Amino acid sequence: MFDPNRLIIFDTTLRDGEQSPGASMTKDEKVRIARQLERLRVDVIEAGFAAASPGDFEAIRAISSVVRESTICSLSRANDRDIARAAEALQPAPRKRIHTFIATSPLHMKIKLRMEPEQVLEQARLAVRFARNHTDDIEFSPEDGSRSEEDFLCRVLETVIAEGATTINFPDTVGYAVPEQFGERIRRLRERVPNSDKAIWSVHCHNDLGLAVANSLAGVMIGGARQIECTINGLGERAGNTSLEEVVMAVKTRADYFNLTLGIDTTQIVPASKMVSQVTGFAVQPNKAVVGANAFAHASGIHQDGILKARETYEIMRAEDVGWTANKIVLGKLSGRNAFKQRLQELGLELESEAEVNAAFARFKDLADRKSEIFDEDIMALVSAEEQAHEGEYYRFVSMSQRSETGELPHARISFSIDGKECSAEASGDGPVDAIINAIESQANSGAELLLFTINAISGGPQSQGEVQVRLSRAGRIVNGVGADPDIVVASAKAYIAGLNKLQSKVERLNPQVGP
Ligand code: KIV
Ligand code: ZN
Repeated sequence: MFDPNRLIIFDTTLRDGEQSPGASMTKDEKVRIARQLERLRVDVIEAGFAAASPGDFEAIRAISSVVRESTICSLSRANDRDIARAAEALQPAPRKRIHTFIATSPLHMKIKLRMEPEQVLEQARLAVRFARNHTDDIEFSPEDGSRSEEDFLCRVLETVIAEGATTINFPDTVGYAVPEQFGERIRRLRERVPNSDKAIWSVHCHNDLGLAVANSLAGVMIGGARQIECTINGLGERAGNTSLEEVVMAVKTRADYFNLTLGIDTTQIVPASKMVSQVTGFAVQPNKAVVGANAFAHASGIHQDGILKARETYEIMRAEDVGWTANKIVLGKLSGRNAFKQRLQELGLELESEAEVNAAFARFKDLADRKSEIFDEDIMALVSAEEQAHEGEYYRFVSMSQRSETGELPHARISFSIDGKECSAEASGDGPVDAIINAIESQANSGAELLLFTINAISGGPQSQGEVQVRLSRAGRIVNGVGADPDIVVASAKAYIAGLNKLQSKVERLNPQVGP
């Protein structure tokens, strides 16, 4: 029996989130994030789009083989080939869902699909009928739902429920909706579709107007939806998707208003956020709700005074409840390999082989020589560096020096190897980072364009490592590179080199975007 107050959390970081520029992940990275999503206890993990590429198929299959608790889902267009592929990829999963979709708005049907509404309706019917041969758990989405005509939607949704769709997901594909109207629309659809009570209703919102979370919650409170589709850090193409941490903490913190239950272990939110940011190279803005570095920082004297007297004066959530640790020093220079390995396990960072553990441990020792206190965030950065290296190190950082002085042009010198051959280079630039990139490029001549550069303190405080994220583009390919080091110019060089390695890498990075 479905509890009418239970809100299902459907995470699509690995599918819709991955459609952000440069956020495409390798199979191993996807498996690592899926394990963290399971620790977070999300109800459904949309692991990818099986028919999009052989790599995405393999990633869904690998996730289906290791995740035991959450339901694993694959997206598929409304055709037999996609659905069969999804079913095959999901085969090892104890709980599986096929999510099939077709566009229903006049614009999409006419321009994108070049189909008549009656053909779309028939294709939706046949897709759900075919999917029923593979699983009882079928989700159907009328793509561009918020711009579709209501009478037509009613016919399509009644048809797919009659064929056996168990979840009806209502997407605001282009982020056009506003909360009250969106919620009312779902309420009316549920009222008008005669068999609507045979399915659980879901919302899937994009954030183009910054309203994804508000629309999702309106879909729940006004419309009666009981599933929210969302991503960690609100990752997703354009302005992103509904952010998981925001909807979850809204429902928890304002339980008096929402009166809904969730299965989520909220203490896993921040670790999940950090993992997704490190893997995808998408930094979290400092003032981002719940997971931003400043989300629990109080700068003004009045607020600090209030917090010291009683935390509730200015805090509505407890930092530890969402997984912020009080910057615990976890390891130091004298920690051994076993302690390091155990901490990796506690953080859910499972490296595949002993050789990888050894390499990460060597990086740890090197860092511990230069930084007295090592935090969890430092260890996560080490593992990311190890995984980036695992993809192949065509370019390898060796050492660098740089000089900047007021009134002088900054100058940098670097030693690095290209395909095993060591070389050194020097160059000047507008700033030290520009100088080091110019030095690298004077030898690499990669042709890459730097689209984005961000820098953050990994663990806060002046002793923190700097974490640099770069986004590079070449010949239509976009990748993100991450580098961490106590010296931020070294971190910049490492991030740039990591990005070049990704552009060079033969390891398939999966990107499930495909045409209609
Ligand atoms: O935004 C969208 O419409 C989607 C569907 C495939 C659900 O991602
Ligand atoms: Zn979407």
